[in-house]
Amino acid sequence: MNATPLPLVPAPNRCDRLDQADFVLGSATVITAAEPFAATARFLAHRLETCTGWKLTLTGESAAGSRIAFAHDAALSSEAYTLRVTTDAVTITAAAPAGAFYGVQTLLQLLPPAVFDVQPRPDLNWHAPCVEIKDAPRFRWRGIMVDSSRYFQPVAALKKFIDVIAQHKFNVFHWHLVDDQGWRLEIKKYPKLTAVGSKRRESPRGHSAANLQKAHNLGGDGCPIEGFYTQDEVRDLVAYAAARHVQILPEIEMPGHAQAAIAAYPEYGLLPEAKPVSCNWGIHETLFNTKPATFAFIEDVLTEVMALFPFEYLHIGGDEAVKPQWQNDPATQAHIKELGLKNEDELQSWFIRRIEAFLQKHNRKLVGWDEILEGGLAKSATVMSWRGLEGAIEAAKHGNDAIMCPNPFVYLDHYQSGANDHEPLGIGGNSSLANVHGYEPIPDGLTPTQARRIIGVQGQLWTEYMATPSRLEYMAFPRACALAEVAWSPAPRAAFADFLGRLTTHLRRLDVQDVRYRAPLEYVRL
Ligand code: ACM
Repeated sequence: MNATPLPLVPAPNRCDRLDQADFVLGSATVITAAEPFAATARFLAHRLETCTGWKLTLTGESAAGSRIAFAHDAALSSEAYTLRVTTDAVTITAAAPAGAFYGVQTLLQLLPPAVFDVQPRPDLNWHAPCVEIKDAPRFRWRGIMVDSSRYFQPVAALKKFIDVIAQHKFNVFHWHLVDDQGWRLEIKKYPKLTAVGSKRRESPRGHSAANLQKAHNLGGDGCPIEGFYTQDEVRDLVAYAAARHVQILPEIEMPGHAQAAIAAYPEYGLLPEAKPVSCNWGIHETLFNTKPATFAFIEDVLTEVMALFPFEYLHIGGDEAVKPQWQNDPATQAHIKELGLKNEDELQSWFIRRIEAFLQKHNRKLVGWDEILEGGLAKSATVMSWRGLEGAIEAAKHGNDAIMCPNPFVYLDHYQSGANDHEPLGIGGNSSLANVHGYEPIPDGLTPTQARRIIGVQGQLWTEYMATPSRLEYMAFPRACALAEVAWSPAPRAAFADFLGRLTTHLRRLDVQDVRYRAPLEYVRL
């Protein structure tokens, strides 16, 4: 029997080869599925029709002969599955549609990589090795964040991206929709958010940090950027993602990263004359003010956001809100005194708690970057630890949930190689494929109870230096393949060399989908 590891990414919990002739998919193969698996079976049938040209029979009855059968086992957890492939039959057993979907993804990886193609190939030998796989995720939050503010991706590119991350068993697409450089979400009650806030004159040429040093200032590129997602497009994308068991986490930044919003509605900011939508990267001083009308505005926006995104979590940013505008504004200083607070950090904490209470009233859970710990943590908030591990450690000790997003390990906007001369311009920092694969999300020093507060891990794609979807894909893959293994596969993880061995075939899957990944330097032989 063949003992080479099957090229499955992420590696499953347990995989035993069966000593039988391969299963062969043919035009007569029948797919059998009763509820709750009918939609998953249709998803599989559609994929197989796309790559083979065969319209396989789908039935709710059991069948003899070559078949792919879905079976129910209520004892499994909701994302778990078993996949048994024998010469005659494939059986995917799950308790819930999510588990069955992940069984389907693993089955697709047992078939030739052309299974992900859009060209029908009925001539191919569509065979899969016989195996018994028992699998379940290590973490329940397996996320990737995409920044659509700095650069704006067409919906078709986001659908392709969501398809690919779902193949890797990610289940959260964190959508960074607003920032200083652009507001990208249609809000019916506040049309200027997109009419004004989605447009900027240009973007920096070269590296924005170099631009701050006068000698290297290349100025702007003179290319206007504008665009936003209509509510119809958002509903369509949410449904598309849900069909792939990916939830979309919308992020609406406050109190900082608000320059595009305030350019549209200066009355919610602190300056008599608002700054325009920003044309440079970096941390900006523009904050929302803390007047009642501003909270009414934010709550109106969040009300429309909640209607669009059914996910129980909503991200309110909270990062990098530097405070000079609050420090220099007499009305804000008077407000701090009136509330009996000590300083601007406590005012931010008060701000976040107010929004948390609003979200709770609507049965939503607040997620924020780890700065929401400063000045006192909101009771039920989930913390995304990005400046290191400390945010997560503090949150977990406090009894709050945390998601590991630390820079540099899972900052997929950082360079992928120490040889940065050979890489396209990036924001800085470094996290190689090996570095991502080796990342352990549970920080040292937590008790088992505290460690259970670490609900998952997430990669970040900030797009200052990713102007196109193909550049986004270059930065995302194959590091997201390694991250999928961190998020899904059991600890201890397979060795990096084992992962690289599986990745060679896995990259063929990305090739047929035209994913513009970075070829790992590890394969380069001089
Ligand atoms: C962040 O990278 N500012 C969360």
